[in-house]
Amino acid sequence: MSDLIEGYLGKTVERKKSRVPAKLDYIQSATGLILGLFMWGHMLLVSSILVSKDFMYDITKLLEASFIFEGGSPLIVSIFALVIFIIFIVHAGMGMRKLPGNFKQYQVMKAHANNMNHEDTKLWFVQAFTGFAMFFLGSIHLYIIMTHSDAIGPYASADRVWSEWMWPLYILLLLAVEFHGTIGLYRLAVKWGWFDGDDPKATRKKLKIWKKSLTWFFLILGFATLAAYMKIGYENAAAGKVGERYTPTAQVMEYKINNGRVA
Ligand code: HEM
Repeated sequence: MSDLIEGYLGKTVERKKSRVPAKLDYIQSATGLILGLFMWGHMLLVSSILVSKDFMYDITKLLEASFIFEGGSPLIVSIFALVIFIIFIVHAGMGMRKLPGNFKQYQVMKAHANNMNHEDTKLWFVQAFTGFAMFFLGSIHLYIIMTHSDAIGPYASADRVWSEWMWPLYILLLLAVEFHGTIGLYRLAVKWGWFDGDDPKATRKKLKIWKKSLTWFFLILGFATLAAYMKIGYENAAAGKVGERYTPTAQVMEYKINNGRVA
């Protein structure tokens, strides 16, 4: 009954407003924080290919818990990807509440942002656009990784990027995720006043510099990483080696020694 009254009047029988919107905002912030920090870690791990194929291979095996299971277990990566996928869906669901529901609402928001000419208000449009793009792009990537976690590695990943045509999707996803992630973390810091200190205005200026620097850093790192996977994938395709799995240098040396040859 009290739900019915609140549904019609927008207030509870005690004349209070529901706390649900505040709770949903909190869930949106918490899931956004987890995803934003996850993406920084993710980009650093994926960029291990820039150091060497062996390094990327070692990281992959480490994440498959090869220190517990002989040869590693990709199932762990699938389970982890599923957890991230669930957080991703919850975050997207919470974000949807903030999207304009019809053209009139969009027009009001646009007019308001233009009239205020306030940079942070305009950032909302970037968040809405990149968030919407990620609904599709992020879901495709997460589903593929979740169901093909055994195909992550210097050659398998490069083949997916190049021969399985993931690179156009990754270009768009990379742009969307880097802008959305850093703007999101910046907005979280401002909204919850994490680093406000004595002079919130000065802090906001500093946070803006951090936001810009981190966006550039992860965009450059991301595109360099993507180029590295594309190059390896292209070379594999040219050599007719698509589908072959990478053998780490240490194992090749061991094989050669066992066959009586010194590497
Ligand atoms: C547990 C979850 C995830 C895992 C295990 C994972 C794993 C990977 C791997 C192995 C690659 C290298 C290319 C490939 O193998 O296809 C990659 C690339 C990429 N991932 Fe993820 N990913 C995850 C979640 C996400 C999420 C949530 C996003 C953003 C919504 C994302 C965005 C990207 C982008 C943009 C690239 C291309 C980056 C580049 O090459 O510079 N990933 N991911």
